[in-house]
Amino acid sequence: MNGLFITFEGGEGAGKTTVLQIVKEQLEERGLKVIATREPGGSVIAEKIREIILNPEHTEMDARTEALLYAAARRQHLIEKIVPYLEDGYVILCDRFIDSSLVYQGEAREIGIEEVLNINLFATEGLMPEMTLYFDIEPESGLARIHSHQGREVNRLDQETISFHEMVREAYRKLAAREPERIHLLDASLPLDAVVKEAGDKIESILQKQEKR
Ligand code: TYD
Repeated sequence: MNGLFITFEGGEGAGKTTVLQIVKEQLEERGLKVIATREPGGSVIAEKIREIILNPEHTEMDARTEALLYAAARRQHLIEKIVPYLEDGYVILCDRFIDSSLVYQGEAREIGIEEVLNINLFATEGLMPEMTLYFDIEPESGLARIHSHQGREVNRLDQETISFHEMVREAYRKLAAREPERIHLLDASLPLDAVVKEAGDKIESILQKQEKR
């Protein structure tokens, strides 16, 4: 596989999706083959699973059911999108991946990181991103951004308490500290231009490393 698999992670309203789109355009302007995709979803079957998970009416959803559904959606998306594009030499920018499950299901829903990691390794057969950009922001600021954005849908997880989102942030920071080679923490409270620049610089460094290989 000669493509490059990069994931974007962060709490609600961190701006990762906006940055991802801008970075995608910048890389395309340089003549690279780039695809932007997202989890949960990114394929017909995975999008259907997403609808079940994120439906605000599904308040009775059990935490382990949710974790399994995310892993199932991840598997399908991986097989249909990630693997073929990697083989085709694309830079893949993926909005959320395995770290979201470790953080949201493993820590915030308290299933445990190792247990969630195990079902996910079954789903991914061990395929990990070469680089993960983690957009770090205080939950209050992130949620305030979402509420000022009228066009964006409010999903089941946006309705969680601030302490849930604090837990999510702590878990991401812990993962980033555990895997500093792969996970890069970006200060997402900075103005958009600055965050885009930081993200672009990180991606540039991994592209250069790849060219040298
Ligand atoms: P989405 O509407 O895509 O929001 P965002 O713009 O924040 O990515 O909703 C995705 C939600 O799903 C988000 O709150 C995090 C959650 N999620 C998990 O809990 N586990 C996972 O494995 C993934 C991929 C997402």
